[in-house]
Amino acid sequence: MIVERSPILLLGAGGHARACIDVIEQNGQYAIKGLVGTLEEVGSSVLGYPVLGTDLDLPELLESHAAGIVTIGQIKTPEPRIRLFEVLERYACTVQAIVSPNAYVSPHACIGPGTVVLHGAVINAGATVGRNCIINSLALVEHDVTVGDHCHVATGARINSGVQIGDGSFIGSGCSIRQGVTVGRRCIVGMGLAVRRSCGDDVVVR
Ligand SMILES: CC(C)(COP(=O)(O)OP(=O)(O)OC[C@H]1O[C@@H](n2cnc3c(N)ncnc32)[C@H](O)[C@@H]1OP(=O)(O)O)[C@@H](O)C(=O)NCCC(=O)NCCS
Repeated sequence: MIVERSPILLLGAGGHARACIDVIEQNGQYAIKGLVGTLEEVGSSVLGYPVLGTDLDLPELLESHAAGIVTIGQIKTPEPRIRLFEVLERYACTVQAIVSPNAYVSPHACIGPGTVVLHGAVINAGATVGRNCIINSLALVEHDVTVGDHCHVATGARINSGVQIGDGSFIGSGCSIRQGVTVGRRCIVGMGLAVRRSCGDDVVVR
C-alpha cells in the first residue's frame, strides 16, 4: 500500500531548518515542498529543497501547500517564531507535533501542534509540551514537566520532574534544571548551567 505523504512548507531556511528536514524525512509523514527564507536565500536550495519565497509570499505559498511548520531557531527572543506561527494559525495551516523516530515520547505525554521533537530527545510520562516548541536533539523532558508555548529546550538540556517552563523561554544546551523548579515566561537560561532556584518572567540566567 502506498501511503500519500502530506505536503509541508518550512518557515525558515537556516541551520535549524536543516536539522528539522532530517527529522521530517525520517518521520515520513510529510513531503517537504520547499522553504521560506530571506530575500538572499530565495532561489537557493537547502539539502535539495528549494527556497520558494520570503515571508511576504506566505499567503500564496500556504494556499498551494496547505501546511507549514516554523523552522527558524530561537535563542534570545521567541518573537520571530511566534509571528510565523501566528501566520500559520491564521491560515489554519498548523500541523500536529513532528517527532523524530529516534526520539521517545511517552504515550502519557501531551505535545502541542507545531512542535518538533528532534533525534534522541526523551519526553516522559505526564509531561506537557506546548505549541510551536523545539525539543532539540538529546534533550530530556522528565515526567510531569510542563513546557509552555514557543519554548526552545536546546540540545542535551535536562529538565527534571515537575519543572514548569513559561511560554517563550529558552533553556540552553546542556543545562540541568532541578526538579520542581519554575522558570518564568520569556526567560533565557544560558548553556551548561545548573538551575536550582525558581525565577520569574523575563529573566536571563547566565
Ligand atoms: C546566555 C546567552 C544567550 C548570553 O549571550 P550574550 O548575551 O551574547 O552574552 P555573551 O555570550 O556575550 O556573554 C556575556 C557574559 O556572560 C558570560 N556567560 C554567558 N553565558 C554563560 C553561561 N552559560 N555560563 C557562564 N557564563 C556565561 C560570558 O562568559 C560573558 O562573560 P564576560 O563578559 O566576562 O566575557 C549565551 O551565552 C548562551 O548560553 N547561548 C545559548 C547557547 C546554546 O545553548 N545554544 C544551543 C543551540 S541548540
